[in-house]
Amino acid sequence: MTVTASTAHASPLAPDWLDYPEDPNALVTKLWASGVERNDDGEIAVQGLPASQLARDYGTPLLVLDEDDFRSRARSFRDAFNEAFADLCGGVDVYYAGKSFLCTPAARWVSEEGLRLDTASGGEMATALRAGVDPAHIGLHGNNKSDDEMRRALAAGVGRIVVDSLDELDRLTELAAEAGAVAPVMLRLTPGVHAHTHEFIATAHEDQKFGLSMAGPAGTDGAAGTAGSPAAEAVARALAAGSIDLRGLHCHIGSQIFEPEGFGVAAEKLLGFLAEIKAEHGVELEELDLGGGHGIAYTAADTPRTPQDIATTLAGVVGAACTALGMACPRISIEPGRAISGPAAFTLYEAGVRKTVTVDGDQGTTHPRRYVSVDGGMSDNARPVLYEADYSVALASRVSGAPAVLSRVVGKHCESGDIVVKDAYLPDDVARGDLLAVPATGAYCHSLSSNYNMLTRPAVVAVQGGQARVIIRRETEEDLFARETGL
Ligand SMILES: Cc1ncc(COP(=O)(O)O)c(C=O)c1O
Repeated sequence: MTVTASTAHASPLAPDWLDYPEDPNALVTKLWASGVERNDDGEIAVQGLPASQLARDYGTPLLVLDEDDFRSRARSFRDAFNEAFADLCGGVDVYYAGKSFLCTPAARWVSEEGLRLDTASGGEMATALRAGVDPAHIGLHGNNKSDDEMRRALAAGVGRIVVDSLDELDRLTELAAEAGAVAPVMLRLTPGVHAHTHEFIATAHEDQKFGLSMAGPAGTDGAAGTAGSPAAEAVARALAAGSIDLRGLHCHIGSQIFEPEGFGVAAEKLLGFLAEIKAEHGVELEELDLGGGHGIAYTAADTPRTPQDIATTLAGVVGAACTALGMACPRISIEPGRAISGPAAFTLYEAGVRKTVTVDGDQGTTHPRRYVSVDGGMSDNARPVLYEADYSVALASRVSGAPAVLSRVVGKHCESGDIVVKDAYLPDDVARGDLLAVPATGAYCHSLSSNYNMLTRPAVVAVQGGQARVIIRRETEEDLFARETGL
């Protein structure tokens, strides 16, 4: 069904990247899971299930996850990287970054699709184990792992522990010796690449908490090589420790990265370091993990690359670097999270209170901004508050012929910063009771959710083969008291 807006109301308050929509009812394909479309009744539907039915059956706010889309994105990374690297190193191990969205069903889906699972805490590791993921296919990350977490990883036989610091390496060496085990270790390094992304999520430059620096003390020429660096020291200690099996090196240069150059530079640096390790210690480390961070579309302005494009570009860089260094290509692994889970889901909210404010513009002009409150907010999507992340939104329960007006979708929390979608054009007649859908909320929304203001966390519904099922039930108010004692 096509309904076109009668009058254009492009607002000077809109950010440069936000175009006035020709048809505010049209869905921008790249923002949505593949099973999502507007049906003949004008509703947003996933695999044929209309928004109003989902809201009626499961309530709002609701995270609606297209399981088929999630699985197909997982397969795309697996296939694209395996194909691109087949001749270089026989294939790639793809570790799904569980921090982006994790529950036992999701852990099973990635295993069934032939991926491994990257966990970042004892709790995530426990989820992977509970789901029945082969321990050999689990990685454990974290910049401050507890002894207990490392003991549990050793006891479960996880395939790799990604060591983040010298302190942790020393503790793991002792814990493994005490357990009579040999710990499979990757060293997380900071190759000094600053990804072009938000400062808080760029993680491979020096001035941040993660990883072992590759920069040693500056030499007489003022340049710092790797000699004497924490990374070089960690390699020496790990190789000398009988209870450590040093498998390889790891880096993760940040998140929501669109340009492949950063990944390429990091790969070259780590390959160069592998060559140095071989020259100094006579050891060829077998693995190189290039991390995750592949960008997705949150707004029409974002243009993500396909897994095929990323894989081919990276394989070219890695192949050329290995040839130049005269070394065999190590086994490559990657850790995509948001690029698999993010676009697979949208959040369905019910609109409530709305108001229009007048905002001062340039040269004494004033302009309206519409606020639409929804029944969730920063407790189910903390990313706008944490990272100033932008999202998009669409009227989900109907189409509208009203002109689009610049709108801000806000939550119901006691914070003025409780913004869900900062800038979007929504039809002028959006009103209480309408359903709004915010796409690309599969990653870092449920996993970062909270009970702020004692809101109960939304249910997660997975849609597969045209059927919906609850995979995480909605919290109840009784759940809010579950941990209180002395009630
Ligand atoms: C070590 C590591 N690997 C992988 C990821 C996944 O990143 P993304 O979800 O952006 O792909 C992260 C995210 O923070 C990370 O810290």
